Amino acid sequence: MLRRPRRNRKSEAVRNLVEENSVSVKDLIFPLFLIDGANKKVEVNSMPGIFRFSQDLMLKEIEECMKLGITAFDVFPAYPESLKDSTASESWNPETFYLKALREIKKQFPEVCLMSDVAMDPYSSDGHDGLVKDGKILNDDTLDILGRMSLAQADAGVDILGPSDMMDGRVGYIRALLDENGFTDTSIMSYTAKYASAFYGPFRDALDSAPKFGDKKAYQMNPANSQEALIEADLDTEEGADFLMVKPALSYLDIIKLLSDNSPLPIAAYNVSGEYSMVKAAAANGWLDAERAMLEILLSIKRSGAKIILSYFAKEFAMMRS
Ligand code: PBG
Repeated sequence: MLRRPRRNRKSEAVRNLVEENSVSVKDLIFPLFLIDGANKKVEVNSMPGIFRFSQDLMLKEIEECMKLGITAFDVFPAYPESLKDSTASESWNPETFYLKALREIKKQFPEVCLMSDVAMDPYSSDGHDGLVKDGKILNDDTLDILGRMSLAQADAGVDILGPSDMMDGRVGYIRALLDENGFTDTSIMSYTAKYASAFYGPFRDALDSAPKFGDKKAYQMNPANSQEALIEADLDTEEGADFLMVKPALSYLDIIKLLSDNSPLPIAAYNVSGEYSMVKAAAANGWLDAERAMLEILLSIKRSGAKIILSYFAKEFAMMRS
């Protein structure tokens, strides 16, 4: 036999030489959940190993993660029902615990890359990403609120804003507003192809942010579609996005590949809550090796073309590597 591909797999050293892809801690963004108060660390029921932290303990968590080499964090706030309203007004209140925490994180760790989510759902009494009128989710009328939220987050020191509602015209509107207000260095990672997915379930538990009626299919994408992701990618690029994101990751590796083949912008993928919880649940039952599954999952996302991975596995991965 002239061709024996197995020769390139014969030892660890040879396998290392021919290895085409690898995951580095530097590729990862660690999503964190923030709650109000002090000295609180509460595990998310459906996400073993993932916690909701009050500001003081989150600062400690970030410090620990930084020692492990993680340099980027995406902070999501969990608001009590009492602070939610139909216009998400708490989202731009400069005294709100979320914006105060962001400011403190940047003050204590100016070198971290801090990311945030720009959408109404954690602050909305309707649990939807946009303003609701007569059972409909409004597109353009929500822009003003997203603009206020974006400026407040940029002012708190956020490095990368993540408009995540999958509605139209977000990136262009926010980019113009940031620039007019002197935030020319604040980046935008657009949730470019975010699908209406069952895999966000545990995240909505973590934030108590499930929609109060209906679903998100009138704004998030249909899992059956891939060409539509190219339309979204073109628009986000024209509107000034710095990064394009695909979400979830695992059932959408083809979309990651499609965007990375078609766009010179760095592609990010969000390895979402349900994808994390599935592995943890199976591991808890002894049905698979969680560590190997994690490595294989992260690698598959990287191999499909994502440069950046948002993942709840980030800390575990970093611990394994250190
Ligand atoms: C909300 C938002 C969601 C996630 C990130 N930002 C949930 C949703 O769209 O309902 C999901 C993340 C995850 O499941 O890990 N704008």
